[in-house]
Amino acid sequence: MVNVYPRLLGRTVRSGMPRVPMIRPFASAFALITTLIFGTALPMSGADGKIQVSDFGKTSEGVSVFKYVLTNSKGAEAAVTNYGATLIALKVPDRDGKIGDVVLGYDNVESYEKGTSYFGGTIGRYGNRIAKGQFTLDGKMFQLPTNDGPNCLHGGKIGFNKRVWAGVDRSRANAQVLELSYTSEDGEEGFPGKLQVRVTYTLAQDKNELRIDYEATTDKDTVINLTNHSYFNLTGTPSKDILQHELVLDARQFTPVDATLIPTGELRAVAGTPFDFSKATAIGARINQDDEQLKFGRGYDHNWVLERTAKGGLQVAAEVFEPSSGRVLNVLTTEPGIQFYSGNFLDGTAVGKGGQTYGHRTGLCLETQHFPDSPNHANFPSTELKPGQTYRTTTVLRFSIRK
Ligand code: GLA
Repeated sequence: MVNVYPRLLGRTVRSGMPRVPMIRPFASAFALITTLIFGTALPMSGADGKIQVSDFGKTSEGVSVFKYVLTNSKGAEAAVTNYGATLIALKVPDRDGKIGDVVLGYDNVESYEKGTSYFGGTIGRYGNRIAKGQFTLDGKMFQLPTNDGPNCLHGGKIGFNKRVWAGVDRSRANAQVLELSYTSEDGEEGFPGKLQVRVTYTLAQDKNELRIDYEATTDKDTVINLTNHSYFNLTGTPSKDILQHELVLDARQFTPVDATLIPTGELRAVAGTPFDFSKATAIGARINQDDEQLKFGRGYDHNWVLERTAKGGLQVAAEVFEPSSGRVLNVLTTEPGIQFYSGNFLDGTAVGKGGQTYGHRTGLCLETQHFPDSPNHANFPSTELKPGQTYRTTTVLRFSIRK
């Protein structure tokens, strides 16, 4: 696999290797020359059906990063940066055909570097929490950084959402396809094994569907749990909260947590509790009920156990309907769980796209995943990955309209 774009710009994106800051006039001359030599048009503009690429600034370490814009024939647009393999924007029509951006994010890489909310980021090596940052694998104990009270959250202090990935345009006739890859060295953030990770964003040409494929291999036994941390606000107006959004989760159980949001190990029935989203229910309808689990999460911040049929594969996990815009989001996944987080920690301090601040519960996350803290729960589906195996999961964000 050749990482055409960043490599040809004379930089390297792998941490721990020399970083040559990009000099812009040089870069475009280089692009032209390589195009002439290799006959491959660098994905500089969308005119040829390829992904549009533009500068997204430099990280604090001086590494240039890019913004890739995928478009389709239905007017949808997905913007992604190779900083954190992050989904920056996702634009889809409402019931009147008006296009709106339905995810929260920032305008520049500095804000993503400083940000603590994981907006749109690819989360790894282990999404969600590992109790006390500890787990035992093959009889050996591993200690990860603790960055969320006593626990390790979303891969540690510098998770995959804060790494620079390499991007390659893999567009084909019926879809624009951006492949992002990253090598996580053995011992990075305390995890064993050198992990080669690939995340591919595919925007279909003829339907408003963004597919995210995850793939990874390791050279030592390790644990892995990758997800995307987009915050959705289907109104397209994130000054409004998400409490009127109606949610369905295809789950009869969830994994209750302790006060530090670590699963107790129990799979608890949702029936008769504020956690029952088996029928469409407004997120705000029960969020403030006097319920211990809601108090621990300061709202919803829990993993639901998805109902999966034996045949496996991609299955619908969640549906969100926003009544004022008519937008519907269906989340399909191959994963056994989903973290529904109601944006409880958003407090209006983050300044996002276009100067918009994001207040309490103005975005909701549906993080498809294996269950939190699985390495410490033998009764949860395993998150172990061994040399010779390939980790593969897929999540699809499918948008439609309800009149
Ligand atoms: C996940 C966690 C939440 C919170 C957010 C980011 O959804 O479960 O507790 O940390 O990420 O703020």
